[in-house]
Amino acid sequence: MKAFVLDRYGKDERLRLSDVPEPEPGDHDLLVRVHAASVNPLDSKIRDGEFKLILPYDDLPLVMGNDVAGVVVRVGAKVERFKTGDEVYARPGKDRIGTFAKFIAINEADVALKPGNLTMEEAASVPLVALTAWQALVEVAGLKKGQKILIHAGSGGVGTLAIQLAKHLGATVATTTSAANIDMVKNLGADIVVDYRKDDFEKRLAGYDVVLNSLGKDTLEKSVSVLRPGGKLISISGPPDADFAKANGLGQVLQQGMRLLSLGIRSKAKRHGASYSFLFMRASGQQLGKIAELIEAGAIRPVIDRVFPFEQTNEALAYSETGRAKGKIVIKVADGDRP
Ligand SMILES: NC(=O)c1ccc[n+]([C@@H]2O[C@H](COP(=O)([O-])OP(=O)(O)OC[C@H]3O[C@@H](n4cnc5c(N)ncnc54)[C@H](OP(=O)(O)O)[C@@H]3O)[C@@H](O)[C@H]2O)c1
Repeated sequence: MKAFVLDRYGKDERLRLSDVPEPEPGDHDLLVRVHAASVNPLDSKIRDGEFKLILPYDDLPLVMGNDVAGVVVRVGAKVERFKTGDEVYARPGKDRIGTFAKFIAINEADVALKPGNLTMEEAASVPLVALTAWQALVEVAGLKKGQKILIHAGSGGVGTLAIQLAKHLGATVATTTSAANIDMVKNLGADIVVDYRKDDFEKRLAGYDVVLNSLGKDTLEKSVSVLRPGGKLISISGPPDADFAKANGLGQVLQQGMRLLSLGIRSKAKRHGASYSFLFMRASGQQLGKIAELIEAGAIRPVIDRVFPFEQTNEALAYSETGRAKGKIVIKVADGDRP
């Protein structure tokens, strides 16, 4: 089958369109014919080699890609919840990525039925960013009705989903973006919008229960002053902490290294009476099922910036790397019934 593979790590590397064997589904796997995939900044970071410590993909060439929507074409002997012909969407487990391909085998635990009201392209844009938003807001923050949350980069892949989820949970939402995206984030439900090119969010906002950070060190540090005592600073763009290292089975040296990497921000948050935690999202078919219900109920809708044809997967990654996407970038892999 055709797939985009990474031959070696490096910033200047391009993915290579290659012929690779079709994956063989294990007992608990679904073989999915990929209709659409979506691009995440994670793809470029994996290609660059930035994630080698956390995601050691040693077995190159590696089929790339972290989000998929498609149709089940075969099921493993012990699969219980899916059948051939089901339309599904997923963020495959981090050890089993490879959605920039015609087919992928995925553990059924990581898969959910595709929301019935979405196209394949729309559905493929959802899993990784929606799971990130869910895990940050529901699991880590425990965001409640009436609370206040600042979501940075509200116009990005994670931001567009997180704003809508936070509104659904009943929170007041502030977000940062630039002038061109203000109407878009307001339409998604943002109550307060700070144009980061003109205004300092840390001077305008105070007493927040939660900040979701997806930007750099400067924004992360300034975010502390926005929180009320007892507030929670959650970062998905680093620095990682020791709890994350432990939960991911990393050894003592890496645990200690990550404790040190996050020492500055943890201390700053603590001095303010707040807490800091790093989140690295995980695959979950069960959570995707709940997200599908919210999408079908109209509480959340995907936001797509551009759809690229499969052949232009490298161009799709390059577009993501501009850092200016409004919502998600999608790759159309199959056309209707034509694989
Ligand atoms: N740890 C995890 O599990 C996890 C999961 C998902 C994502 N992430 C990370 O989170 C980050 C964001 O991911 P994403 O998919 O949302 O990225 P993205 O879609 O590429 O983000 C692009 C958006 O960011 C906005 N932006 C850029 N600089 C900004 C600034 N200084 N202030 C406010 N907005 C700004 C841009 O708006 P303008 O054009 O208006 O600047 C653009 O709309 C990435 O680093 C990604 O790797 C981590």
